[in-house]
Amino acid sequence: MYCTKNITKNLVWVGANDRRMALFEGIYEIPDGMAFNSYLLLDEKTVLFDTVDKVVQSQFLENIEATLNGRSLDYLVLHHLEPDHSAALEAVVAKYPEVTLVSNGKSFAFVSQFFTIPESIKTLEVKEGDTLCTGEHNLRFVMAPMVHWPEVMVTYDETARILFSADAFGSFGALNGAIFADEVDFARDYLDEARRYYTNIVGKYGPQVQTLLKKAAGLDIEMICPLHGFVWRKNLNEILESYTLWSTYEPEKQGVMIAYGSIYGNTENAAEILACRLRDMGIKTVMFDTSVTPSPRIVAESFKWSHLVFAAATYNTGIFVKMEAVINDVVAHNIQNRKVALMENGSWVATSAKLMRDKLSACKNIEFLGELSIKSSVKPDKLAEINDLAKIIAKSFE
Ligand code: FEO
Repeated sequence: MYCTKNITKNLVWVGANDRRMALFEGIYEIPDGMAFNSYLLLDEKTVLFDTVDKVVQSQFLENIEATLNGRSLDYLVLHHLEPDHSAALEAVVAKYPEVTLVSNGKSFAFVSQFFTIPESIKTLEVKEGDTLCTGEHNLRFVMAPMVHWPEVMVTYDETARILFSADAFGSFGALNGAIFADEVDFARDYLDEARRYYTNIVGKYGPQVQTLLKKAAGLDIEMICPLHGFVWRKNLNEILESYTLWSTYEPEKQGVMIAYGSIYGNTENAAEILACRLRDMGIKTVMFDTSVTPSPRIVAESFKWSHLVFAAATYNTGIFVKMEAVINDVVAHNIQNRKVALMENGSWVATSAKLMRDKLSACKNIEFLGELSIKSSVKPDKLAEINDLAKIIAKSFE
């Protein structure tokens, strides 16, 4: 049976939720599921904005059929060709062969790479600023390259003042009956997943997101309809301000995120002692064991906090593998503007601090506050050094 939600009197959410996938993109855990959003505008012409992932294709097709209620499908706007939004394309054109596909040149190149679409299917190629009148509504197309693929574009409905924002402003997590962000306590219950989604999927492309935000600032936007997560119709600044911080790599919170990679617990012990001393000085701390917490969560927390401490055992004369993966991931996502301290452990040779520093040095505006080296386990003489490192970190908050 179809399951749809009205966004406005003639705009309908025809997407679907999935709570069975273990991993999104084969990488990211989605314990709260995933929403694959698609919207259908019922104007004089009918316009479908994007499709969905193959896992929810049958529900999606049922939703479209019910919403069209016998009408034909005139346009399908493709904002982004990543298969979580395009996988149902072949099924849509098979069912609605009268449809015209609307997108940019790069998208159409990807369409032919991913799919086999009958040559009889009509296409309309659009460029920055082009418009399409569908009756009452006037749609304007805005290019958003590398947010986070090169073909990405967004659509601004000038009539309803709605921005169809592609992946931007999306989130991990299924929609549990609600469709609008103001129906839930977003900051309490969903911001962490929005951050984990943004930082891991789009985080590398901060300057491109900034470009999109500047374009969006020139539009009179009443509502944002992203391809994942909630629709925003109130307090748009709540999500826009988060995006401004994340895309400029500015921390949201003052405090220390400590991630440690420990083989037998001795590096963990050093990290715990450091956290206790920092708390004694009134500094907020959070801690993650890289052997337990997935790297994408630590990437997201690295974007959240102002100070980062990485503590790692030396392993095969390198960085302990779990921590090495985290450091690689943090660097790959372009972290910037952070104060960093490092701790290493090694029984016969300790190399991990230097190796972590070398990797993190590739990032912009990283200030290294200090390093500490342990041989096998924390001995009484090391307590003063850990205390001194805590003092240096604490002083950097002044
Ligand atoms: Fe939700 Fe980039 O796809």
